[in-house]
Amino acid sequence: MPKVTFLPLKQTVEARAGDSILETALAHDIPLHHACGGYCACTTCQIRVVEGAQNLSAMEEEETERLERADDVLPQSRLGCQAKVNGDVIVEMVHVD
Ligand code: FES
Repeated sequence: MPKVTFLPLKQTVEARAGDSILETALAHDIPLHHACGGYCACTTCQIRVVEGAQNLSAMEEEETERLERADDVLPQSRLGCQAKVNGDVIVEMVHVD
């Protein structure tokens, strides 16, 4: 099973292949924000990929357009609800309580 490490919590969990970063977080009680419920409409689930970007699904147009309107976006930014896990990845959550 692919492993996802969430920073800054330094928590590593197993993901079901094909689940999104958000689905993986919620399955393990990791507090990744998701104001719109995972429908690519809010950007609160934004994460930055530290390692393993090649192990995430490719960005689709809807995610690209949504991220263009978000604050503090970097080239390694993804939306947790849209990025699907296919292998090990380390991500940093942008919105942390
Ligand atoms: S949860 Fe709203 S865009 Fe991902």
